[in-house]
This record gives sequence, structure tokens and C-alpha cells, in this order.
Amino acid sequence: MKFRSEITGVGSFVPPKVFTNFDLEKMMDTTDEWIQQRTGIVQRHWVDDSTSTSDLALEASLLAIKNAGLEKKDIDMIIFATLSPDHDFPGTGCFLQAKLDLPEIAVLDIRQQCTGFIYGISIADKFILSGTHKNILVVGAEVHSKGLDKTPNGRNVAVLFGDGAGAVVVSRRELTNEKTDSRIINTHLYADGSFAKELWIPAPGNALGKDRLTHQMLEEGAHYPQMNGKTVFVHATKRMAECLMHSCKEGGVRLEDVDVFLFHQANLRINSKVAEMLSIPESKIFNTIQNYGNTTAATIPLGMDDAIKAGVLKKGMLVASAAFGSGFTWASALWRQ
Ligand SMILES: CC(C)(COP(=O)(O)OP(=O)(O)OC[C@H]1O[C@@H](n2cnc3c(N)ncnc32)[C@H](O)[C@@H]1OP(=O)(O)O)[C@@H](O)C(=O)NCCC(=O)NCCS
Repeated sequence: MKFRSEITGVGSFVPPKVFTNFDLEKMMDTTDEWIQQRTGIVQRHWVDDSTSTSDLALEASLLAIKNAGLEKKDIDMIIFATLSPDHDFPGTGCFLQAKLDLPEIAVLDIRQQCTGFIYGISIADKFILSGTHKNILVVGAEVHSKGLDKTPNGRNVAVLFGDGAGAVVVSRRELTNEKTDSRIINTHLYADGSFAKELWIPAPGNALGKDRLTHQMLEEGAHYPQMNGKTVFVHATKRMAECLMHSCKEGGVRLEDVDVFLFHQANLRINSKVAEMLSIPESKIFNTIQNYGNTTAATIPLGMDDAIKAGVLKKGMLVASAAFGSGFTWASALWRQ
């Protein structure tokens, strides 16, 4: 029997507290106008003190499992993508597994930042097709707000990021018709570590000498994200366009055949530029950055869930996705919902 990987359930969760650009104006020498013009972001959700990444992930996961028509016990693996873990180790997937009360199932934490979700469904697809697993929970979740410099020094990065979680269940099904079955058609994963320091958090780190973290590093803000925004922008547009074309070509479909484009949400201008480069009508791209900011590994499953709720994404539709982020890493995926 030949298998296929179907996305059978989707769920998402954002913390209730909203911070608008106007709220940020009071904190960090910025303006609603600057943020909206450069990024498209209007507001983002940030957690309260007592909430962690695995808490957000738990809510999204429970909804994804329910929407798949499954029970928790049906899940046989968790793949967890985040750059803002609960703790340095163990991986946040282990904390989520305990909260889901699913002892003994395999947990894999991956660190591919904004590209983490596509890497995650790619890995899930391979495990499903190999026949070893039946229902894999793939989660992208982030709590950025606790790790941002919210003073004027950090304004170039802090305004961009929000907290949130998205999850999907990837299930094993029998392949009956390659053209019409709901299934992950292909994924393409890439990285170029020579750009690792264009978007990163230097500290704490073993590569820093004798101490992983010093008072001086803290004073210099080395524990906050650092980004060369222009370099990221240029590479993101080029790479997302390239890998999208690759996925479509290999999947034997034309860009025009794609019903919905679910892109990573780093900047509305990045997605508009990709649309312009490939002559994709903007109406086919489902953007959510206005409401959530950049939630890194969570943007694509969050968008998928919102698109389903909005009636834009329906079972059987052809979806193309692409992401770019720290590493640099980038990836594309083509699936029939
Ligand atoms: C970050 C980004 C929005 C900045 O836009 P930009 O047009 O490149 O802006 P610049 O960095 O050139 O900054 C322009 C000016 O705005 C200022 N500025 C930076 N952040 C600001 C803020 N939050 N509010 C107001 N002004 C700000 C800068 O100090 C600079 O001032 P100057 O001209 O007096 O020196 C854009 O580069 C980007 O989106 N890059 C992609 C990054 C990304 O998506 N990363 C996420 C991971 S994939």
C-alpha cells in the first residue's frame, strides 16, 4: 500500500493581550505610521508574565487534535519548532508532551526559526510516508515578547515580533489518486550558515569565550535579537520566490493553479515583492501580519487556521507556502489541503 500525508487538523492560539503600534509609541520612540509603512503590522499579541511558549503550544495543539477528529492518545510523535524555548534544555516539545500527558511518544525539537514550520511538516511527511508513524503533531510556537529590548535601543526589532502558536496534525492515509488526494505534495528545505550572524542572538553562547554570559554582554544587549534588516529583506524575497517556483515545477503545477499562498509573515512588503516578482495576484496571498506581527515558527499554521476560519482555505484546495528566516534558512511546501 502506498501512503500519503494529509493535514487533518489545524489549530492556533494567541494570548489575549493586544499591543497596538500606538501602545509601542509610548514605550520605544516609534510611530504607528513608521511601523505600518515599513512592515504592515498594526498590532501584536504579547503574553502575560506567567505564560510560556509551551502554554501557547498546548492550546493550539488541543484544537488541532480536536479539529482532526482525533483524541490525544492518537498522536504518536511531536515535532516542535521554536526559537523562543521555555528553557535552554530540554526542548520545549518535552514540556508540551508532559502538558498533553502523552508519555513515551517521540518528541523532536527543531531550531529553524522562521522556516521551522515548513521544516517540521517536511520531517513529519517523511516519517508518515515511511510507515512508522500515523498522526504527527507539528507545532510552531513563540513567546518573543519576553526576549525583546522594549527600550528605544531595540525599536528596530521589537516592533516586528508577536507571540502565538499554531499546530497541525499530519496523518497517514492510503494514496488513491496522486492528483486529487489531500496530501503534502512536496517540500524543499535550504540553509546558508554563512549568513548566520545577520539575524541572531549572540548571548548566552559557548562561542563567546570563557563565560556564556557576562554582565558586560547584558549591558551591551547581546542577549537581544540583532538583525541586519536590509540584508534579510533582499535575501528573503529572492529565496522565497526561487523555492516557490521549485515546488510548483516539481509538483507539476503552474503558479496559476495554486488556490492560496500561505507565506511566512515577516513583513508585508516582502510578500508583496514576492507577489510582484512572480506575478501572483495579491488576493491569493493570505496575510495575517497586520494582526499578529511576526510570530516566527507560528506564522504559517496560524495563517492556515485563520484562512480556514475565514472560508478562504477549503478542503481540496492547492496551497503553496514559503518561508525565510534566521540561519539563513528558507523552505517551500506544496500541498492539497
Ligand atoms: C526591519 C525593516 C522593517 C526596516 O525597514 P527599512 O526600510 O530597511 O528601515 P531602515 O533599517 O533603513 O531604517 C530606516 C530608519 O528608520 C529608523 N527606525 C528603525 N526602527 C524604527 C522604528 N521602530 N520606529 C521608527 N524608526 C525606526 C532607523 O533608525 C532609520 O533611521 P535613519 O534613517 O535616521 O538612520 C526591514 O528592513 C525589514 O522588514 N527587513 C526584513 C527583516 C525581517 O523580516 N526579519 C524577520 C525575520 S525573517
